[in-house]
Parts: sequence; C-alpha cells; structure tokens
Amino acid sequence: MKFFIDTANVEDIKRANDMGVICGVTTNPSLIAKEGRDFNEVIKEITSIVDGPISGEVKATTVDAEGMIREGREIAAIHPNMVVKIPMTVEGLKAVKVLSSEGIKTNVTLIFTANQALLAAEAGATYVSPFLGRLDDINQPGIELVRTIAEIFAVYGYETEIIAASVRNPIHVTDCALAGADIATVPYKVIEQMTKHPLTDQGIEKFQADYKAVFGE
Ligand code: E4P
Repeated sequence: MKFFIDTANVEDIKRANDMGVICGVTTNPSLIAKEGRDFNEVIKEITSIVDGPISGEVKATTVDAEGMIREGREIAAIHPNMVVKIPMTVEGLKAVKVLSSEGIKTNVTLIFTANQALLAAEAGATYVSPFLGRLDDINQPGIELVRTIAEIFAVYGYETEIIAASVRNPIHVTDCALAGADIATVPYKVIEQMTKHPLTDQGIEKFQADYKAVFGE
C-alpha cells in the first residue's frame, strides 16, 4: 500500500517527504482554508516538494458540471502531477467523464457507499476516496466500505485506485492495508504516530546507556 499525506501544510509535507514514505498529497477545501493561503500558491508550492499525484479540489461552491470542468482544467494546468478532486454527485460524475476523456486525472471524493465508488469508476475516475473515519464517526464501520470496494474492483478489474481517506489513527492504516486499499492518505500526525513504539524508545535508551557506560559519550 502506498501513502499520500492528507494536508495542505507545506511544513508537514516537507517532513513526510524527507522521511521517504509518501508519494503523493491530497488536499480538500477545509485543509486549504486552514492554511489561509491562496489555493494556486499553496498547490504550486506542494508540487515543488512532492513528485507524485497532488489532489486539488474544485471550489466547494462550484456545484455544476460545467464549472467543475472549467476549474478542473485550470487545476490540471498548474502542474502535470495535478489530480482534480471532484465531489461524488451527479454533476461531479459528468465532470469526471469529460475531464478523464481529456486525459486529466480525477479523484472522486466523499465516497460513502460501494455504489458511489462503482459509478465513479465507470465514469472514468483515476481514484476514489472512501472516507472511513467519517463513517466510524456515525457508528458505521468505515473499513468495511474500503474492503467491499477493493473486492468489487478486483472482481471486475477496474483500474481506478482506492485512496482510503479520513484516516484518523494508526489502526486505521493497518486495517486499510489489510482491506486492500491501494493508497492511504494520512495526516502527518498519524504518520508520526506510526513510527512510535515504547519498546523502540526503551531500546534506544538502553543501547545508549550501555554504550556510554563502556565508551563514554
Ligand atoms: C480526503 O481526501 C480528505 O481530505 C480527508 O481524508 C478527510 O478527512 P477527515 O474526515 O478527517 O476530515
């Protein structure tokens, strides 16, 4: 399973990129708004850091296919690595059909059912983003959605890749890998949590103490 980082914060993106563990970035309107920076400016900066798929979403206020297609073309023109993130609606699917026919990569977001993922794949989406954390939040097992989509895509040989999104903790990550997600898009905090184990810390401390006791600093 590959990792993307789910943020528009360039410092976090740099940190994760330096670790060598991420090969792409996903953003959304909330994450861009959190940074309080111009969309194009922050996206351009991200493309200069990570050499891989960068999802930039159409404006949250753009709800018609025509508008999404226009913005999608503009987003795609920012950099060859750009992926246009489009919400899962009827209008969104129409936009995906047109953009994908032009060779523009798309990521259909806010997927909460296997049927939505199937429709997005049929429309030509490069990626679908099932949101597991938000399903968990309403007491529905999000990981089951990821597993079901992975099974269906494998049966029919869809090339559309599954980006497990709304990943909130390290257990989600392991579950996504077991469920067959192609990619997990993960906030920096979770990547950092994944590096940790108390026995690793204890081991490092003991090695240092043993070494220093004999060889000094
Ligand atoms: C996915 O691409 C979204 O940006 C993100 O994963 C949403 O996560 P959240 O539900 O924690 O906001």
